[in-house]
Amino acid sequence: MCGIIGYLGKEPALPFLLRGLKSLEYRGYDSVGVALVEEEKFISFRKKGKIRDLEQDLTDFSSNSCCGIGHTRWATHGVPSDRNAHPHFDCQEKVALVHNGIVENYQSLRAGLSLEGHCFRSDTDSEVIAHLLEGEGDPLERIFNMMKRVEGSYALCIIFQEEPDVLYGVRQLSPLILGVGEDSHFLASDLPAFLEDTRRVVFLEDGEVVRVSPAGYTIYSSDGIKKDKPVVTVPWDPVRAEKGGFKHFMLKEIHEQPQVLEETLMGRINLLDKRVCLEEIAGWDGNFERITIVACGTANYAGLLGKIFLEKLARIPVEVDYASEFRYRDPLIGENNLVIAISQSGETADTLAAVRLAKEKGARVLAICNVMGSTLTQIADAVIYTRAGIEIGVASTKAFLCQLAVLLLLALYFAEARGIEDEQLEREKILEELVSLPRQIREILEKEEIFQDLAREFYLLKDFLYLGRGVFYPLALEGALKLKEISYIHAEGLPAGEMKHGPIALIEPDVASVVLVGSGETRSKVIGNLEEIKARQGKVIAVSWVGDKELEKKADRIIFLPPTLEILSPFLAIVPLQLFAYYVALEKGCDVDQPRNLAKSVTVE
Ligand code: M6R
Repeated sequence: MCGIIGYLGKEPALPFLLRGLKSLEYRGYDSVGVALVEEEKFISFRKKGKIRDLEQDLTDFSSNSCCGIGHTRWATHGVPSDRNAHPHFDCQEKVALVHNGIVENYQSLRAGLSLEGHCFRSDTDSEVIAHLLEGEGDPLERIFNMMKRVEGSYALCIIFQEEPDVLYGVRQLSPLILGVGEDSHFLASDLPAFLEDTRRVVFLEDGEVVRVSPAGYTIYSSDGIKKDKPVVTVPWDPVRAEKGGFKHFMLKEIHEQPQVLEETLMGRINLLDKRVCLEEIAGWDGNFERITIVACGTANYAGLLGKIFLEKLARIPVEVDYASEFRYRDPLIGENNLVIAISQSGETADTLAAVRLAKEKGARVLAICNVMGSTLTQIADAVIYTRAGIEIGVASTKAFLCQLAVLLLLALYFAEARGIEDEQLEREKILEELVSLPRQIREILEKEEIFQDLAREFYLLKDFLYLGRGVFYPLALEGALKLKEISYIHAEGLPAGEMKHGPIALIEPDVASVVLVGSGETRSKVIGNLEEIKARQGKVIAVSWVGDKELEKKADRIIFLPPTLEILSPFLAIVPLQLFAYYVALEKGCDVDQPRNLAKSVTVE
């Protein structure tokens, strides 16, 4: 995945491009580049490394060009290097473009173009597009012709030297948004790239081309027909895309959790009549034969908790699949099934492919998503937004919490729609306790230094196991994922009951286990697992409820949580796991917001 940006306006483009690229850097950060049009020629800078490296090269450079494009890369084809960095050009350097996506048939296109005499200067798939656009004639026509030949996914910003004050954008299976400012227009992979300048946007759809000129913009479908599309004002606050005094976006986003949870619940719970109101799916009766949840990574672990919520409360059978597995196993799915796709970005390639397959098979698709106008929200039958605000840290935190909130509300909503009896008034209690969670999360955050101390004590260990049962098992998976992705420490999440079937062989003094101890029916069993680990000299960090005296004597360290219902405990227990991972990564000196080899959303399969 990469980030692309284009600017056309009345002011010099370079500062807008660099600022925009910084907010897109979460999408890829192994190389960077910009191109500007000056006196009908391109000036470009391309570099392996981060945007700050490019900025250093540009210290003594200034330009009045008001039209330019930029790119921040996460390599797929061709190693990170200056020559593979975007923008790419045709042979005569009359076309400049930046690309996010994958040209699947690039090898055959490249072979054909080489035979025709085209000269390639990089190892990327993207460069073939520049050569396909080379030539004479109306640039728009050349774009449409190129689209007929390229297979795969692409979002493009293109400038033709013959039209130095025109910027083109093309979207096909990769995100591209048009920002409409007072005297300027932006094209970008994601909103934060221009949110400081405008919140008025047009969400482009697959197959669309936009031509931006000083006179305004025109959108075309791939067959060249002009289209009218609504300009939407996005509710996101640009401040949310800044670090706001925190050292890292991840830490800021962990701290935003009480607020975004409140926002996600807002207007969706009626405490007077103890009901959940989800206008997005008004009229859905919840009578599905089965629900299948598809998602990747952290969103998939939220899905595992969603299964517990939906089965327990709404009594609907639920299966959870990795989106990347679902699509290749010929799933038994049809009209009577609901597929819930969970995705922070709404652009994860595997999740989108799974949804497309589910739709082909006639299933109804509900998206739980954080990004307005993303591809997922365009192809789903209905969308419930998570309202987490922009999430920039590569390690997902606040989006996960909001996904849990939506899944719980959904389970409560379907329970009522299906007329499931609530004799023990369990649902009412859940709703009452749910609204206290933001305050309880704040209480945990106020004691942040505990996690810093804990991290100092444990960061040199090389292996961690995370163990839990019931609602704590998905959390064990998520806790382990957080640790490994930002601190590069090997960590495994396991159902605690599985320990004795193999993983216990790993226990030795240098292995730490984070044991999530609930108060439910499996509590004594999990404590048994903890004792088995201690008996083999393993280190134990336990997570339990304030006042759990029994555990204090058994674990090496214990993290206490404010009391809540067992079903709501993941909302609280996740916060210490995020903070622990954060501070371990910090102790190790890792790049928390931009961990190696990763990108925020994975738009390739
Ligand atoms: O944007 P999505 O929610 O679809 O992304 C799914 C995963 O790629 C994502 O959760 C990933 O696992 C994160 N790096 C986890 O922190």
